[in-house]
Amino acid sequence: MSWTATILTLFPEMFPGPLGQSLAGRALENGTWNCDVRDLRAFGLGRHNAVDDTPFGGGAGMVMRADVVDTALDSVSRQDGAPCVYLTPRGRPLAQADIRRYAAGPGVTLLCGRYEGVDERVLEARSIEQVSIGDYVLSGGETAALVLLDACVRLLPGVMGSAESGVEESFSDGLLEYPHYTRPAEWQGRTVPDVLLSGNHAAIARWRREQSERVTRERRPDLWAAHLSHSSSRPSVQEGQSL
Ligand code: 6GU
Repeated sequence: MSWTATILTLFPEMFPGPLGQSLAGRALENGTWNCDVRDLRAFGLGRHNAVDDTPFGGGAGMVMRADVVDTALDSVSRQDGAPCVYLTPRGRPLAQADIRRYAAGPGVTLLCGRYEGVDERVLEARSIEQVSIGDYVLSGGETAALVLLDACVRLLPGVMGSAESGVEESFSDGLLEYPHYTRPAEWQGRTVPDVLLSGNHAAIARWRREQSERVTRERRPDLWAAHLSHSSSRPSVQEGQSL
């Protein structure tokens, strides 16, 4: 069986969306992964298929009902160990280590919230992972689910060529990438760093490493600190840390 994303959403037409194009789209067509979208509305209650209700304690907005979400999750075939993930700005930050773990398994079940969120009890009862894709607020979990899936699908076997897979390796010691240049060698009076035209591969590797370190230090002091603490306490650069 292929890697399966099961998505529970009130907006099923948002999937596969952009993942029907390019690398992920080709992988979807050739059966490398499978996009199983379920409309949460189908599990709603009463004449209007209600999926939400007003919050206990008052306040603005609506909350998705625990019973409705529970029934919807019951409809998902008990995939051997596929984690269930709720996309929410209250979640822990999604990281490349999570993506590697999801991609290595049989798939993921993604619960997309709208309104103010989902009743906390069903999240507890089902030990659902809660993840956020960054410190900003989206109108719903769907676009976050697309981000998570894009990151997973590109890691599935055979999706990326060997050239692109190599690029992933250069990221994996927790540094940002060095800057890239191509022809023309001079553009609007701007030149390319001389070392890149030198043909000296050792010097180029050294320059790229320095640039990676500089960019990481300047833009991401958090990643830089993590990189330093890992590389100083270990004999060599460790694959699989942070990014
Ligand atoms: Cl996962 N969902 C929503 N609604 N907003 C977000 C988010 C998720 N991550 C960051 N902002």
